[in-house]
Amino acid sequence: MTNSNQKGLAIITGASSGIGAIYADRLAAQGHPLLIVARRKDRLQQLATQLKKRYTVNVETLSLDLANPSDLLTLETKLKSDPVDILVNNAGSGGLGPLSSTTADKTEALVRLNIIAVTRLSQAALDGFRDRGKGTLINLGSIIAFWPSAAAAVYSGTKSYVVNFTRSIAMEFEGTDIRIQVVMPGPVRTEFFSSQGMSDSVFPDDYYITADELVDAALSGLEQGEIVTNPTMAEPKVWEDMENTRTTYFAAVSSGKVAPRYL
Ligand SMILES: NC(=O)c1ccc[n+]([C@@H]2O[C@H](COP(=O)([O-])OP(=O)(O)OC[C@H]3O[C@@H](n4cnc5c(N)ncnc54)[C@H](OP(=O)(O)O)[C@@H]3O)[C@@H](O)[C@H]2O)c1
Repeated sequence: MTNSNQKGLAIITGASSGIGAIYADRLAAQGHPLLIVARRKDRLQQLATQLKKRYTVNVETLSLDLANPSDLLTLETKLKSDPVDILVNNAGSGGLGPLSSTTADKTEALVRLNIIAVTRLSQAALDGFRDRGKGTLINLGSIIAFWPSAAAAVYSGTKSYVVNFTRSIAMEFEGTDIRIQVVMPGPVRTEFFSSQGMSDSVFPDDYYITADELVDAALSGLEQGEIVTNPTMAEPKVWEDMENTRTTYFAAVSSGKVAPRYL
């Protein structure tokens, strides 16, 4: 039996745990058939079995390492050939710790996953959305995008990229039926820290929300037409102030003169 409200295909990367698995649940509940992607095949298959049973939608799995160029190409090709309705670029990793404690190869793999994969998959999805005149792209940023950190140089840098990249393409598609959103989680109780050999006690207990809370708030932000969704920011004025400061900064650095203190 298939769900009578069935909608277009949703692709979710990093769906084998945490936030991605909850996106898969919520989008299946809305009637979207799914393609869920991550490296751990067993976890993807378990989730697919549960979701098919719970929501009677088709759920396919694809075991890929998105930091690997040929695996990435497999998904890009699928995005170009299949009529995809929603892409959630959620797969991401932290590589937390000082730069001096990691290797250049591990750093490159992180950049490939957090930046190159997000960019290439967004571009492939948007090509299809443009042809069909509609579609939804959701990219996972992080509050660390605005918080340079000695323990997260590459992670912080990659998430700043995701924010600016996503906001810029949202400007490019403004006024169309293509929805583009960047979601800005703070600490979320997932395998994010443990998968990197770290403890969740990096942050105090009460800083965390659950992946369910995060995704439900993010989907509410999407429905409200937000481009940037800050699920844990109670007071929207904080964001407005940041935006105003950004505008002030841009005006200040566009003076066309070297600042007197450098002369
Ligand atoms: N949790 C937080 O506090 C937090 C805060 C801010 C932002 N975020 C962002 O939220 C997103 C989801 O993270 P999460 O908290 O749900 O963490 P998680 O539970 O560790 O999930 C990460 C997902 O990404 C997948 N993944 C990792 N490396 C991959 C690779 N090379 N190729 C394909 N898939 C890969 C993992 O699956 P496999 O291991 O099976 O490949 C997993 O499904 C990430 O982009 C993260 O940066 C999380």
